[in-house]
Order: sequence, then C-alpha cells, then structure tokens
Amino acid sequence: MASASGLEGVVVAETRISDVDGAQGRLIIRGHDIEELTGKCTFEDVCWLVWNGTLPKPEQRDQLRTALGHARVKAFALLPGLGQALKASDGMDALRAAIAHLIATGDSQVDRVDITAAVSVFAAAWARIHAGGPPIAPKDSLSHAADYLRMATGGSTDLAAIRAVDAYLCCVVDHGMNASTFAARVVASTGSDMVSAIVAAVGALKGPLHGGAPGPVLDMFDAIGRADRARVWLEGEVAAGLRIMGMGHRVYRVRDPRAAALERAATEFEQSSATAERLKLARAIEREAERLLAERHPERALRANVEFYTAVLLEAAGIPRTLFSPSFAAGRAPGWCAHVEEQRATGRLIRPASTYVGAMPAA
Ligand code: COA
Repeated sequence: MASASGLEGVVVAETRISDVDGAQGRLIIRGHDIEELTGKCTFEDVCWLVWNGTLPKPEQRDQLRTALGHARVKAFALLPGLGQALKASDGMDALRAAIAHLIATGDSQVDRVDITAAVSVFAAAWARIHAGGPPIAPKDSLSHAADYLRMATGGSTDLAAIRAVDAYLCCVVDHGMNASTFAARVVASTGSDMVSAIVAAVGALKGPLHGGAPGPVLDMFDAIGRADRARVWLEGEVAAGLRIMGMGHRVYRVRDPRAAALERAATEFEQSSATAERLKLARAIEREAERLLAERHPERALRANVEFYTAVLLEAAGIPRTLFSPSFAAGRAPGWCAHVEEQRATGRLIRPASTYVGAMPAA
C-alpha cells in the first residue's frame, strides 16, 4: 500500500512474535490476545512468552524471576560508571545514554535478561535522581513489577499499584512492526549487537508520535481540569494545528485494544476518589476528542490509543509522569530483544529503497 511515508503497509519481515489487526482492533502476542495477558499474567510470564513462544510453567517463571532479579542487582552496580547519563533532564535521553554503556555478551539469552533488567533499573534510578533523591537498590527477591515500582517511587509496596504496573508492563510488551521495533530490527539486521539495537529503539520510542505521548496526555487532563471545558480546549488545540495526544493510530481504525485493557486495569483503583475522578474526566475527554476528530476527519477513525489510559493507570500507581516514556521502554524491552533475535536468525540485511525526487546532473 503506498502512502505519504512510502513505508506504510510495506512488509519488511515475517514475525511470530505479535500481530496487530488494525481493522478489528486486535493485538495477538504469540497466539494470545492482549486482553488474556493484561492483568492476568506477570511481566515474567510475558517475557518468557515473547522469548520462548509459550507461557512458562511455574518453575520456569520462578527461574526467570530469579534471573531478572540478579540482573537488576548487576545493573544497579553499574550506576557509578554511567557518567553524566542519568543527570540528563529528559528520562529518555538518560535511558539512551545509560543503556549505551552496556556491553553485549553476544549470548542473546543472557543479553535479553540483562537489557530488560537494566532498562528498568536505569529508568527508576533516573527518576529518583531527577526527584533529588538517591537511587534505590533493587531487591532481587521481588517480582520485576514490584521492584520497578519500589525503585521508581521511593519504596511503594502498594499491592494495587504493583498489579497496575504489572498489567501495564505486560500490555506494552510488543506491538508488531512499530517504529522502535523496526529500528531495532534494522540495527540487528546488519549483524550488530543487541545493545546497539536497543539503543536505537529507545531513540525511536522517545518521539511524541510514538512513545512520548502519555506525559502530555496527563498535562492535557490537567489543563482541561473539568469535563465541561473539554470541547473548547480540544477545539483550541486542533485550531492551532496541534494533535490531541493519546488519540489516533497509524494502524488501528477502531479503538486501540490496549486502551480498553488499561482502562479496565485502572478501574481497580476506582475506590480511590482521586483516580475515580481522573477516570471520569479521562472518559469525558475521550468522548469529546473522538467526536471532534470525527467531525474534522470523517474519513479517518481517530480513537484513543494505548497512551490515553497509560496516563491514568501509571498516575494511579504513583509513577511520576516524567517516567511514563521510560516505563514504556521498560515494558517494551523484552519485545525489542525478541525481535532482535528473530531478525538475526534470518541473516538478512534490511535495506529498503527510496524514490529519488532530487535534481539530476545537468546533461
Ligand atoms: N489529533 C488531531 N489530529 C490528528 C490526530 C490527533 N491525535 N491524529 C491524526 N490527526 C490528523 C492528522 O493531522 C491528519 O490531518 P490532515 O490530513 O489534515 O493533515 C489526519 O488526522 C490523518 O492523520 P493520520 O494519517 O491518521 O495520522 P498518522 O497515521 O500519521 O498518525 C499518529 C498516527 C499516532 C502519529 C497520530 O494519530 C498522532 O499524532 N497522535 C497523537 C500522538 C499519540 O498519541 N501518539 C501515540 C501513538 S501510540
């Protein structure tokens, strides 16, 4: 299918990891609908799934939980050697620079665990430093989600928050040939190492059109403040040529199934009045945004994407908004690593073509 970018719909790989059905609003991860995984599995389960193709047996989950725990401790020990990386004012800049300090072993089964652990440890450490406190050391006995929350928030062990973080990390683990995954696969296809591929992926995820939207979504909720102000505010944004964050998707022509999965996960917090209010406001803004965008673009369904309810869920869990995009990276890292392995196994260089529309030499 041709498009303005020239790449939309172009098949660049065969994959067994995930499939996005944009017409039906369906996301399948290794044979499982995303709704089957979100809120029902642990992060360790989905890591095992994307890396090995099946959900783990209990002993396999325990084995991976231990391996990730040890890898978090190993990653934390690297902090003093990361130079200025974690002092960057933007969390994604910090993450990119910190991950670049890792050296791949070349054994992908080791590298994928080390990288997945390091992304969470570095992201959480950055959040603590950014908040003016010391990084919190991991506890290898905890689940990955529980430890991430603890390290990121300064010690939260709230069970509902742990379930929310687990649901979030599972929900974003993989999503077809999105920009960051493509970036990782392009690097892997050259025969480069897994760390280099993940650095490229983090760079791609940083952009607001990809993974940088959930912080701005929360800013939008704050700016609107009350449901009855939504229409006017949203109209102002669109009239100024700005995009409504958390709305629209390159592939989905219906509501992103991850928005529904995360909205459902956020309802767990409805007993907290702050979250109940936030959810009410978010739903009202979503309705108005959908209506307004349908009026402006009747030819194109622009509905809520994953970022919309990420903002509600992660805020309810106590994750600071500056850490939303790095948290996305923490959840997506295992998917990236799975794609790097899959790409490598093909042994094929990805080398797309371009259409030259520039000047020709004078005859
Ligand atoms: N707010 C306002 N207008 C939007 C919009 C949004 N969120 N998303 C798309 N549009 C508009 C575009 O400006 C375009 O208008 P034009 O034809 O007048 O220029 C039209 O809708 C069609 O855009 P489309 O081709 O669907 O956009 P895309 O596929 O290039 O963009 C996104 C997909 C995700 C980049 C886009 O919807 C977007 O920027 N969303 C906001 C950022 C976001 O939430 N990102 C996270 C994605 S998971």
